[in-house]
Amino acid sequence: MSRSSSEKKEIIVLGAGVIGLTTAIKIQEAKGSEYNVTIIAETFPTDPRTIKYTSFWAGAQYVATRTEDLNLRRMERETFDVVWAMSEPGSGVAEGCLLRCTDYSYLPAEEQYADEKDHPCAFIPDFRQLRPDELVSGASQGFACTAITFDIPRYLPYLLARFSSGGGTIVRGAVGHIQQVLEGGAGIFANPNSSRKYSAPDAVILCVGLGARFLGGIEDKDVIPIRGQTVLLRAPWVHIMPTLRDLKDGFNPPYVIPRKGGDVIVGGTYHLDDWYPLPRPEITERILSKGLKLCPDLAPPEVRAEREPTVDDLRPLILDVGVGFRPYRNGGVRVGVEWMDSSPLKNQAKKVPVVFNYGHGGNGYQASWGSAQIALEYLEGAFINPK
Ligand SMILES: Cc1cc2nc3c(=O)[nH]c(=O)nc-3n(C[C@H](O)[C@H](O)[C@H](O)COP(=O)(O)OP(=O)(O)OC[C@H]3O[C@@H](n4cnc5c(N)ncnc54)[C@H](O)[C@@H]3O)c2cc1C
Ligand SMILES: *[C@@H]1O[C@H](CO)[C@@H](O)[C@H](O)[C@H]1NC(C)=O
Ligand SMILES: *[C@@H]1O[C@H](CO)[C@@H](O)[C@H](O)[C@H]1NC(C)=O
Repeated sequence: MSRSSSEKKEIIVLGAGVIGLTTAIKIQEAKGSEYNVTIIAETFPTDPRTIKYTSFWAGAQYVATRTEDLNLRRMERETFDVVWAMSEPGSGVAEGCLLRCTDYSYLPAEEQYADEKDHPCAFIPDFRQLRPDELVSGASQGFACTAITFDIPRYLPYLLARFSSGGGTIVRGAVGHIQQVLEGGAGIFANPNSSRKYSAPDAVILCVGLGARFLGGIEDKDVIPIRGQTVLLRAPWVHIMPTLRDLKDGFNPPYVIPRKGGDVIVGGTYHLDDWYPLPRPEITERILSKGLKLCPDLAPPEVRAEREPTVDDLRPLILDVGVGFRPYRNGGVRVGVEWMDSSPLKNQAKKVPVVFNYGHGGNGYQASWGSAQIALEYLEGAFINPK
């Protein structure tokens, strides 16, 4: 028997990046659907782009990570199944946001796999080891598989639309301290009115990314940015996704990520605890020259037909140069639950479960669905064993 709407539990998801949106959908679409989900965030997908919203700035690709972190492995494995189904030709609207393309990952000698079965992408369709004659310079081993990329300016609005059409509410608000939401719910941000009494939600899910470092009551100093700079090109002729894991050269491994709509991200950089929010012009130059060396296909076909392309052939294709802060966390993604008092006034306080889902570093897209599933499990566990 389904519950009446008045019995629905009020769930607040804090954050509207890829993690908040995916988690909100996962909870809303959970079996039985006894949850009324509201997202509160300072920034939403169609807002002007800001460094405070990492999800704008990702590549973003699905290529499983080489990691000993079993939590992350599970998240990525489960996400693959969801995203692969969403990208199935003829499967529906999500297909327009996702591109299946061949990933070529090239490894230097010190990063080689002794056994290709240990490769994290071994389960992905069309996985194979590259022949020596297929390797690029600087590589001594390589693998290919059919990976998936997210066309971010389409995918994030798709997630938001799916959430809203499923009955979800969105509220804009900059939360200073977790207690504001625990005591007043979304109402204090949606409709502040000094003569109204607001009530605590049944649960709060924290998907604030790098914001976890600053949010009052959380202030998790293990969350640190890994700065990434990229160049966005208009190059609809690119259909492959090469990556060279060359970690020696100051952590600037080149990669190329084509998107469904024909734009291409060229990267990249990985600089821990680097907070500079704007592109550095000399890095843009390095990204372009290393990207072209790795993937001459970046240059227009008519240029390649006539001569060896140069970086100058890429300049007219540039749409944007971006910088994002990957929300890295010492110790890995934080998923779990803690019960917090809804108010500092002890006679009014009730215990509210707060589920964490932040700190996905450079893996937020490819871990999103699996991570949301784990958050949902913590939420349901909290309601089964209330405090
Ligand atoms: C250059 C680059 C390349 C990348 N490539 C990939 C890739 O190929 N594959 C991949 O999987 N990942 C990739 N990533 C990583 C990915 O972008 C992140 O892991 C992901 O976007 C994190 O999402 P999030 O929702 O946790 O955080 P965010 O997108 O930053 O969202 C945080 C949300 O919380 C809100 N918020 C925070 N604090 C508050 C507050 N106090 N009050 C109200 N709202 C608040 C914000 O407004 C926002 O809505 C890349 C990142 C970069 C920078
Ligand atoms: C769900 O929450 C929103 C926002 O708080 C509220 O306006 C709405 O009435 C609620 N819907 C149900 C069915 O409880
Ligand atoms: C504020 O709340 C009071 C009490 O619920 C209500 O009577 C009043 O109409 C509200 N004012 C506004 C502007 O919404």
